[in-house]
Amino acid sequence: MRLISGIQPSGNITLGNYLGAVKNFVKLQNSDKLTDFLVFIADLHAITVPQDKTELRKNIKSLVALYLACGLDPEKVKIFIQSEVPAHTMLGWVLQCNGYIGELERMTQYKDKKERQVAGVSVGLLTYPSLMAADILLYDANLVPVGVDQKQHLELTRDLAIRFNSRYQDTFVVPEPYIPEAGAKIMSLIDPTKKMSKSDPNPKAYISLLDDINVVKKKIKSAVTDSDGFVKYDVENKPGISNLLTIMSCVTNTSIKELEEKYKDSNYATFKEDVANAVALELTPIQAKYNEIINSKMIDEVLDAGRDYANYLANKKIAKIYNKIGLGRKR
Ligand code: AMP
Ligand code: TRP
Repeated sequence: MRLISGIQPSGNITLGNYLGAVKNFVKLQNSDKLTDFLVFIADLHAITVPQDKTELRKNIKSLVALYLACGLDPEKVKIFIQSEVPAHTMLGWVLQCNGYIGELERMTQYKDKKERQVAGVSVGLLTYPSLMAADILLYDANLVPVGVDQKQHLELTRDLAIRFNSRYQDTFVVPEPYIPEAGAKIMSLIDPTKKMSKSDPNPKAYISLLDDINVVKKKIKSAVTDSDGFVKYDVENKPGISNLLTIMSCVTNTSIKELEEKYKDSNYATFKEDVANAVALELTPIQAKYNEIINSKMIDEVLDAGRDYANYLANKKIAKIYNKIGLGRKR
């Protein structure tokens, strides 16, 4: 079984990225059903909205270091940068020519991001899901571990694969999303009805994996909750407390039920204090490892190996695809 996933280097990754995606990569890398696991830095996706050149380079490197610091093992997972494998863009174009504007315009992430653009909406923001489909289909990946916000893009990927397969005979594996039961959608700490996002203009809304530990604790302690005063999981009526319960459950590997029982007589201050300490305990070793890695040679070594392996797989596949379509001369 082959797995693939990617994260955009559009800022420091958040606790949401970690619990919804990276923590699962670390679990999945040990599965005995695995033949290949590819994890990449989606830099081409990041430029669908304006990026500062220096920041982008910094974020790419930092994301590699974070993947490693969170426990991805380069012996088991090939880590590479999307733009260093040109076949992604090549297949992205082919899939744009097999997708419909209507289906892209229906994507909720596009609709949300479009609203936030002040300097015009790039064409790439609309066609982004065709490139994401290319990232996946290029490697015949069976499973794609992502947070719940990517479910719609995965469905489109499946539709594109099925459409292409019926037009040009079986070419692509139709992939399945792998969405974790808990942690697939961590919410903002200041508005728990909104997703926690690294591009949120208010840094109090998210926890960056690289936030100073005291800042992490402070952000959790001041997370918006309600005035009921009892700890119970109820997303509809108590989204703030439910979000903190989810976070606590993921970082301590304890069920929500057990946590509800444990905190049934506690006030919010005690509960928040414990959540803050649990998150701090999870992030402290990650930050220590990050600081060890960020200036080491390991980053380039991992990226070189990942780039070579990904190009090897991707170039074979893109040649087959071009042949199926009739592009260029037969290879
Ligand atoms: P992105 O930062 O948009 O590149 O997302 C990278 C990965 O993290 C994807 O698998 C997302 O689904 C996941 N993700 C992003 N934000 C959250 C969140 N708030 N909760 C859970 N997963 C998330
Ligand atoms: N679109 C994803 C996000 O914003 C990132 C991504 C790009 C991705 N290509 C992918 C995730 C391929 C999984 C597989 O979160």
